Amino acid sequence: MIAKRDEFMSLTREIKPGVFWVGAIDWDRRLFDALIPLPEGTSYNSYLIRGSERTALIDAVDESKIDVLLDNLRSMNILTIDYIIAQHAEQDHSGGLKKLLEAYPSARVLGSPKCLDLLVQFDLVSKDRVQEVKDGEKIALGERSLQFIHAPWVHWPDTIFTYLAEDRILFTCDFLGSHLAMSDLFAVDEPEVYRMAKRYYAEIMMPFRVSINRHLTRIRDMTVEIIAPSHGPLYDRPGFILDAYAEWASDRVKNQVVLVYVSMHGSTRIMADHFVDALISRGVEVKRFDLTNYDVGELAESLVDAATVIIGTPTILAGAHPLALYAAILANALRPKTRYASIIGSFGWGGKMLEQITEALPNLKLQFLDPVVARGLPKEADLRSLDRLADEVATMHRNIGIIKTH
Ligand code: FEO
Repeated sequence: MIAKRDEFMSLTREIKPGVFWVGAIDWDRRLFDALIPLPEGTSYNSYLIRGSERTALIDAVDESKIDVLLDNLRSMNILTIDYIIAQHAEQDHSGGLKKLLEAYPSARVLGSPKCLDLLVQFDLVSKDRVQEVKDGEKIALGERSLQFIHAPWVHWPDTIFTYLAEDRILFTCDFLGSHLAMSDLFAVDEPEVYRMAKRYYAEIMMPFRVSINRHLTRIRDMTVEIIAPSHGPLYDRPGFILDAYAEWASDRVKNQVVLVYVSMHGSTRIMADHFVDALISRGVEVKRFDLTNYDVGELAESLVDAATVIIGTPTILAGAHPLALYAAILANALRPKTRYASIIGSFGWGGKMLEQITEALPNLKLQFLDPVVARGLPKEADLRSLDRLADEVATMHRNIGIIKTH
């Protein structure tokens, strides 16, 4: 007979006396939002804070892992929770809320007005059990207190951070997190965490750079020893992740071209290959993605720093290839700080692919460089035009001081 999980399984970890990680590691999840690949899984972090008079839980977990959270709480003999802090209403942090509230019937759910409204709309909590918190408001748990900081647009309008001043811990919900299932509680392997945090930033936070910079400034003004996000490991060296975010969210771009292309009969591929070599020989770094076989997260991450994006597409059914249009729509949604763009590709008998791609990128503040479009297989003149485009890209990069001279 197979044992039920609650007969033996629980994992809780003490961060500081009376402050515990009680969440769930999702080692197996491989897709988020039906869009974002999770090559390293993820975690849904919940935190329990035991005060001398009251107990609070920060964030529930995804519905699929609520039994893990409940088992963890039972293993600690937690009979009463006074406050459940809902930092954000998205279901990976709130899906388990209904069952959690059944297990702890006297608990009240605290959050921003927007978050509580969403939770009620999602039918995860009833109106009589919610309590709004204002920006800067504190609640006492006894000898320690929680302060709430409204932090909209990282990445929803509802988010709050929670500050445990006595222990100098800042709980930041999605902000500064990573989709990374790992046994380390803290970011010990910083290169690995940096890689996954950058990918996460690109997929989720990048469209909100203005808000991000504002929140970074606010956090820098606080005394913080530990940053505790709701995904991935915690940071006991906050400067590591704050500096990384400051760089990613800055206006600075790098000497990089992201080339995404799709080719049906080989013409656009020949152009892409020639163009890559032309850029490399001019001292420009290239990240090349074949749109028939690529990882959305890697593409998003490559857009964080790149100065230029080039889209390569053939013409099909009188327009751009749908995979190229999809990449353009994705880039438009992610709003990278990319400055320059162009289109390369081929056509047989005409079509509107240039207009379609250009019109799919309204959110980006781009300077478009003249496209290079060949009829069928590229001829010598087309290859020279690609050289001209590579010259132009290199000149643009040189003009803003990002090409290094050796
Ligand atoms: Fe991790 Fe926006 O949810």
